[in-house]
Amino acid sequence: MAESLYIPNTVSKAEKYEALLPQIEGLIMGEPDVVANLSNIAAALRQAMGFFWVGFYIVKQEELVLGPFQGPIACTRIRKGKGVCGTAWSEGKTQLVPDVDAFPGHIACSSDSKSEIVVPGFKNGEVAIVLDVDSDQLADFDETDQEYLEQLMRSIEKFL
Ligand code: SME
Repeated sequence: MAESLYIPNTVSKAEKYEALLPQIEGLIMGEPDVVANLSNIAAALRQAMGFFWVGFYIVKQEELVLGPFQGPIACTRIRKGKGVCGTAWSEGKTQLVPDVDAFPGHIACSSDSKSEIVVPGFKNGEVAIVLDVDSDQLADFDETDQEYLEQLMRSIEKFL
Protein backbone atom coordinates (compact mmCIF):
# COMPACT_ATOMS: atom_id res chain seq x y z
CA MET A 1 0.00 0.00 0.00
CA ALA A 2 1.04 3.62 -0.54
CA GLU A 3 2.75 5.36 2.38
CA SER A 4 1.32 8.79 1.76
CA LEU A 5 -1.63 10.43 0.06
CA TYR A 6 -1.40 12.79 -2.86
CA ILE A 7 -4.18 15.38 -2.92
CA PRO A 8 -3.78 18.52 -5.06
CA ASN A 9 -4.79 21.48 -2.87
CA THR A 10 -5.82 23.95 -5.54
CA VAL A 11 -8.76 22.01 -6.92
CA SER A 12 -12.50 21.75 -6.28
CA LYS A 13 -14.04 19.49 -3.67
CA ALA A 14 -15.18 17.06 -6.39
CA GLU A 15 -11.63 16.90 -7.79
CA LYS A 16 -10.26 16.19 -4.30
CA TYR A 17 -12.70 13.30 -3.89
CA GLU A 18 -11.82 12.07 -7.41
CA ALA A 19 -8.14 12.02 -6.39
CA LEU A 20 -8.79 10.54 -2.95
CA LEU A 21 -11.20 7.67 -3.58
CA PRO A 22 -8.87 5.55 -5.77
CA GLN A 23 -6.11 6.03 -3.17
CA ILE A 24 -8.47 4.80 -0.45
CA GLU A 25 -9.20 1.75 -2.64
CA GLY A 26 -5.43 1.17 -2.71
CA LEU A 27 -5.19 1.52 1.08
CA ILE A 28 -7.83 -1.12 1.77
CA MET A 29 -7.02 -3.50 -1.08
CA GLY A 30 -5.88 -6.86 0.27
CA GLU A 31 -6.49 -5.90 3.92
CA PRO A 32 -9.50 -7.73 5.37
CA ASP A 33 -9.36 -6.28 8.91
CA VAL A 34 -12.30 -3.94 9.50
CA VAL A 35 -10.71 -1.80 12.24
CA ALA A 36 -7.47 -1.34 10.28
CA ASN A 37 -9.36 -0.25 7.16
CA LEU A 38 -11.83 2.07 8.93
CA SER A 39 -8.91 3.68 10.80
CA ASN A 40 -6.99 4.45 7.61
CA ILE A 41 -10.13 5.70 5.86
CA ALA A 42 -10.91 8.12 8.71
CA ALA A 43 -7.31 9.39 8.64
CA ALA A 44 -7.30 9.74 4.84
CA LEU A 45 -10.58 11.68 4.85
CA ARG A 46 -9.39 14.04 7.56
CA GLN A 47 -6.02 14.61 5.89
CA ALA A 48 -7.34 15.09 2.36
CA MET A 49 -10.56 16.97 3.04
CA GLY A 50 -9.64 18.82 6.25
CA PHE A 51 -12.78 17.67 8.06
CA PHE A 52 -13.28 18.85 11.66
CA TRP A 53 -14.45 15.38 12.81
CA VAL A 54 -14.78 12.22 10.75
CA GLY A 55 -15.46 8.72 11.93
CA PHE A 56 -17.60 5.65 12.13
CA TYR A 57 -20.33 4.38 14.42
CA ILE A 58 -20.90 0.62 14.24
CA VAL A 59 -24.22 -1.13 14.93
CA LYS A 60 -23.79 -3.39 17.97
CA GLN A 61 -27.00 -4.94 19.32
CA GLU A 62 -29.44 -2.05 19.79
CA GLU A 63 -26.95 0.83 19.68
CA LEU A 64 -24.42 2.60 17.51
CA VAL A 65 -21.00 2.35 19.15
CA LEU A 66 -18.10 4.69 18.37
CA GLY A 67 -15.53 3.19 16.01
CA PRO A 68 -12.34 4.51 14.38
CA PHE A 69 -12.36 8.31 14.03
CA GLN A 70 -10.19 11.41 13.68
CA GLY A 71 -10.89 14.56 15.64
CA PRO A 72 -11.97 15.56 19.14
CA ILE A 73 -13.29 12.93 21.56
CA ALA A 74 -16.91 11.96 20.86
CA CYS A 75 -20.05 10.34 22.29
CA THR A 76 -19.56 6.59 22.54
CA ARG A 77 -23.13 5.24 22.17
CA ILE A 78 -26.17 6.43 20.20
CA ARG A 79 -29.58 4.74 20.20
CA LYS A 80 -31.57 3.97 17.06
CA GLY A 81 -33.55 7.01 15.89
CA LYS A 82 -31.58 9.41 18.12
CA GLY A 83 -29.58 12.32 16.72
CA VAL A 84 -28.38 12.54 13.14
CA CYS A 85 -26.53 9.21 13.27
CA GLY A 86 -29.43 7.32 14.84
CA THR A 87 -31.78 8.79 12.22
CA ALA A 88 -29.49 7.69 9.36
CA TRP A 89 -29.66 4.22 10.93
CA SER A 90 -33.45 4.09 11.42
CA GLU A 91 -34.23 5.59 7.99
CA GLY A 92 -31.40 3.85 6.11
CA LYS A 93 -30.74 7.13 4.31
CA THR A 94 -28.02 9.78 4.16
CA GLN A 95 -28.70 12.78 6.42
CA LEU A 96 -27.43 16.13 5.12
CA VAL A 97 -27.77 18.68 7.94
CA PRO A 98 -26.78 22.29 7.14
CA ASP A 99 -27.47 23.52 10.69
CA VAL A 100 -27.24 20.96 13.47
CA ASP A 101 -29.12 23.24 15.91
CA ALA A 102 -32.16 23.02 13.59
CA PHE A 103 -32.11 19.18 13.58
CA PRO A 104 -34.52 17.81 16.19
CA GLY A 105 -32.64 15.66 18.70
CA HIS A 106 -29.16 16.44 17.38
CA ILE A 107 -26.55 15.04 19.76
CA ALA A 108 -23.90 17.69 20.42
CA CYS A 109 -20.65 15.82 21.03
CA SER A 110 -18.87 19.13 20.47
CA SER A 111 -20.36 22.62 20.63
CA ASP A 112 -18.02 23.55 17.75
CA SER A 113 -19.91 21.28 15.36
CA LYS A 114 -22.23 23.33 13.11
CA SER A 115 -23.14 21.11 10.14
CA GLU A 116 -23.00 17.39 9.52
CA ILE A 117 -23.43 14.59 6.99
CA VAL A 118 -24.11 10.98 7.98
CA VAL A 119 -24.03 8.13 5.43
CA PRO A 120 -25.29 4.62 6.27
CA GLY A 121 -23.59 1.42 5.15
CA PHE A 122 -25.36 -1.90 4.73
CA LYS A 123 -24.63 -5.57 5.36
CA ASN A 124 -27.19 -8.23 4.40
CA GLY A 125 -29.74 -5.48 3.70
CA GLU A 126 -29.48 -3.91 7.18
CA VAL A 127 -27.60 -0.79 8.29
CA ALA A 128 -24.36 -2.06 9.86
CA ILE A 129 -22.33 1.16 10.13
CA VAL A 130 -22.60 4.92 9.63
CA LEU A 131 -19.95 7.37 8.45
CA ASP A 132 -20.31 10.68 10.29
CA VAL A 133 -18.60 13.89 9.18
CA ASP A 134 -18.88 17.13 11.17
CA SER A 135 -17.87 20.68 10.27
CA ASP A 136 -17.32 23.73 12.43
CA GLN A 137 -18.88 25.82 9.61
CA LEU A 138 -22.60 26.05 8.82
CA ALA A 139 -23.82 24.39 5.59
CA ASP A 140 -20.40 22.92 4.79
CA PHE A 141 -21.71 19.78 3.07
CA ASP A 142 -23.71 19.41 -0.14
CA GLU A 143 -24.75 16.89 -2.79
CA THR A 144 -21.12 16.55 -3.92
CA ASP A 145 -20.13 15.24 -0.47
CA GLN A 146 -23.18 12.99 -0.46
CA GLU A 147 -22.38 11.52 -3.89
CA TYR A 148 -18.73 10.74 -3.12
CA LEU A 149 -19.21 9.62 0.49
CA GLU A 150 -21.99 7.25 -0.63
CA GLN A 151 -19.63 5.94 -3.32
CA LEU A 152 -16.98 5.42 -0.61
CA MET A 153 -19.51 3.57 1.54
CA ARG A 154 -20.12 1.07 -1.30
CA SER A 155 -16.36 0.25 -1.08
CA ILE A 156 -16.51 -0.02 2.71
CA GLU A 157 -19.45 -2.46 2.50
CA LYS A 158 -17.20 -4.93 0.63
CA PHE A 159 -15.05 -5.62 3.72
CA LEU A 160 -17.72 -5.41 6.46
N1 SME B 1 -23.89 14.75 16.19
C1 SME B 1 -24.09 13.33 16.06
C2 SME B 1 -23.39 12.58 17.16
C3 SME B 1 -22.03 12.13 16.81
S1 SME B 1 -20.88 13.34 16.86
O1 SME B 1 -21.23 14.46 16.01
C4 SME B 1 -19.37 12.82 16.54
C5 SME B 1 -25.56 13.00 16.04
O2 SME B 1 -26.42 13.85 16.28
O3 SME B 1 -25.88 11.84 15.79
